[in-house]
Amino acid sequence: MKHLLSTKGLARPDAIRLLDIAEDMADVANREVKKLPTLRGKTVVNLFFEDSTRTRISFEAAAKRLSADVINFSAKGSSVSKGESLKDTAQTLAAMGADGVVIRHPASGAPEVLAASGWIDAGIINAGDGTHEHPTQALLDAFTIRRRLHGPASRGKGLDGVTVTIVGDVLHSRVARSNLWLLTTLGAGVTFVAPPTLLPMDMSGWPAAVGFDLDAAIAAKPDVIMMLRIQAERMNAAFFPNSREYSRRWGLDDERFARLGPTSIVMHPGPMNRGLEISSAAADSAASTVLEQVANGVSVRMAALYLLMSGDREDS
Ligand code: CP
Repeated sequence: MKHLLSTKGLARPDAIRLLDIAEDMADVANREVKKLPTLRGKTVVNLFFEDSTRTRISFEAAAKRLSADVINFSAKGSSVSKGESLKDTAQTLAAMGADGVVIRHPASGAPEVLAASGWIDAGIINAGDGTHEHPTQALLDAFTIRRRLHGPASRGKGLDGVTVTIVGDVLHSRVARSNLWLLTTLGAGVTFVAPPTLLPMDMSGWPAAVGFDLDAAIAAKPDVIMMLRIQAERMNAAFFPNSREYSRRWGLDDERFARLGPTSIVMHPGPMNRGLEISSAAADSAASTVLEQVANGVSVRMAALYLLMSGDREDS
């Protein structure tokens, strides 16, 4: 694997291989085993043009647990705020000897531009670009679902026959898009449930069922219900007129949570708007995987860094 830019083109064997390597990394990720020397002498740059807590910190932890050096770059406080371009920023990082670049950017497609540019010879990992994709979030979500369903017997398995309902702000969600491609590649069935104004106008070619009624979706007892964050920073009142109305119709409140199946799991990529898309009772319940997702993110990001930066990077 040369770059990790999206899950749309990720083949099932490659996805399963990455999840299996993440299983191998888990004891190191969880600090039960000391760090590995795998990336000693390599440098990972976390290049973040948008805010992040989980993704940036877990990539830093993942790189350090593989013994890489880490440089954290935030656009705020850098020369980007003086107008420096992505090209000049990338060439500056190349001059510093970056072997891997983890990039989050508000523009959809920025990681592809960087990977195709020739400005820097490094493995590029997309840590979230605009409304396009967030591939490592989907991989950690798939890893979390697989572990909950199969436990220690997860290795080699996909998610065949698993039903996943993804609820909320699909329109602005790179998490929803990356999960759609990856989960269906792994054999799961995906249903989106959202207000009509928070669905993309054109979903042709998307392998998902679509509904508008969360109560009907819950009555179908999905194996997984994944609540999306309302991305208020990306929308105006035309999309999202009323928090109370949204919560009443599309929020996973206590009453809806009680109607989920006994083995259903509740996911959220974070950060959560508690009381809006998810209640605290649901978020903090035994059914919730919110903190498991964060912990598993380190294992999955170790696997991604390992595949891109150790040994020869394959041309795919
Ligand atoms: N889930 C996710 O991407 O969280 P952060 O924005 O905190 O990185």
